[in-house]
Amino acid sequence: MTASAIRALFAVANRPEVVSLAGGMPNITDLPLDVVGSILHELVISNGRQAMQYSAGQGEPALREAICEVMRLEGITAHPDDVTVTVGSQQGLDLVTRIFCDPGDVVLCEAPSYVGALGVFRASQCEVVHVAMDEHGLRPDALAQALEGVHATGKKVKFLYCIPNFHNPAGVSETLERRTAILDIARRADLLVVEDNPYGLLGFDGEPTPAMRSLEEDRVIYLGSFSKTFAPGFRVGWVLAPHAVREKLVLAQESATLCPPAFSQYAVSAYLANHDWRGQIKIFREMYRERRDAMLAGLADDMPAGTSWTVPAGGFFVWVTLPPGLDSHAMLPRAVTARVAYVPGTAFYADGFGSRHMRLSYCYPTPERIREGTRRLGEVLAYETGVLETFGPGSAEDSRAALRPYEAPGANQE
Ligand SMILES: Cc1ncc(COP(=O)(O)O)c(C=O)c1O
Repeated sequence: MTASAIRALFAVANRPEVVSLAGGMPNITDLPLDVVGSILHELVISNGRQAMQYSAGQGEPALREAICEVMRLEGITAHPDDVTVTVGSQQGLDLVTRIFCDPGDVVLCEAPSYVGALGVFRASQCEVVHVAMDEHGLRPDALAQALEGVHATGKKVKFLYCIPNFHNPAGVSETLERRTAILDIARRADLLVVEDNPYGLLGFDGEPTPAMRSLEEDRVIYLGSFSKTFAPGFRVGWVLAPHAVREKLVLAQESATLCPPAFSQYAVSAYLANHDWRGQIKIFREMYRERRDAMLAGLADDMPAGTSWTVPAGGFFVWVTLPPGLDSHAMLPRAVTARVAYVPGTAFYADGFGSRHMRLSYCYPTPERIREGTRRLGEVLAYETGVLETFGPGSAEDSRAALRPYEAPGANQE
């Protein structure tokens, strides 16, 4: 296990003078704390002894029923018996990986992929094989090719891990056609699909695209979470899995935690029962949309020629591709000196790829701060491309030592 780039960054990026476009923390400023407070107060008064006890390893039945209602919004029909409550969807992924993977087994992941998932796969000593994406998500032709490639080596692919909605970090979503094509390939190859969907209800346009699990019950394991639609502090997520897998999940959950925290589960159930949670998700969506718009406008105004980025229709992230020759990892200390932070693309690959990319998050800062962040980033990139043009490709690192250290105009104004 190694520290992720995000973790190492947090200490610096959290300083108030730095505009952090790095962390992907949900923005719960709009959550009405008085309402949540009185729901929790009522919970403790009326049912505190049960809520503060151990509970069932699979999770509370009332919550599992409510989870089925939440999943219906994305076209999923499920029985509460097939839901296992977890400590965030992160624990769901960890349990699924423990159940299926032995050291050396192959897991297919999009390129790029969620840094927290790569950490889980690394801890289980899995080999990650990346599968190319484009602006419509995972490419079915690349999936077929990756499967062929792994089979040729005699290794076992245990599952495909994917994030079809508002991808972290790529910011793109799979079209319905793509989902169908990927599931067709999975059926033919007898491949299990792990669908990670924490952002699905945070789309900015129209209705959610049907979840992969709504199209195929038997070979999709679905991971859900209340972290982005309610609050991450309760650490409540879930796994919806085919029956045989669910039985193993409960055993794995019991050996990991005995049971997921009862208090958090009762709290989420009470919130869902007593608050207009659908209305609250709409409020979150509008807030994130405003921030997405600020970031896209900032990128259009501030990025130098040769930079491109994805246009997310929901979620928290934009994936930026830098002009050839620039290295987001090497550039990060200079960006932080210029008081803007991002996550270098290399964090999202298991194989060291990604240095021409960066992930920008728009979820947390205000629109004004986002615009300031892209302005600072634009200046850093302009400087870096200037170095590259003057000294040629490959010389950027060496020649930079001969130049004065980068300092953003206005760097001492705050
Ligand atoms: C794609 C993805 N999966 C899973 C998680 C973990 O979420 P949870 O808080 O439910 O553990 C995150 C959190 O950022 C995420 O982006």
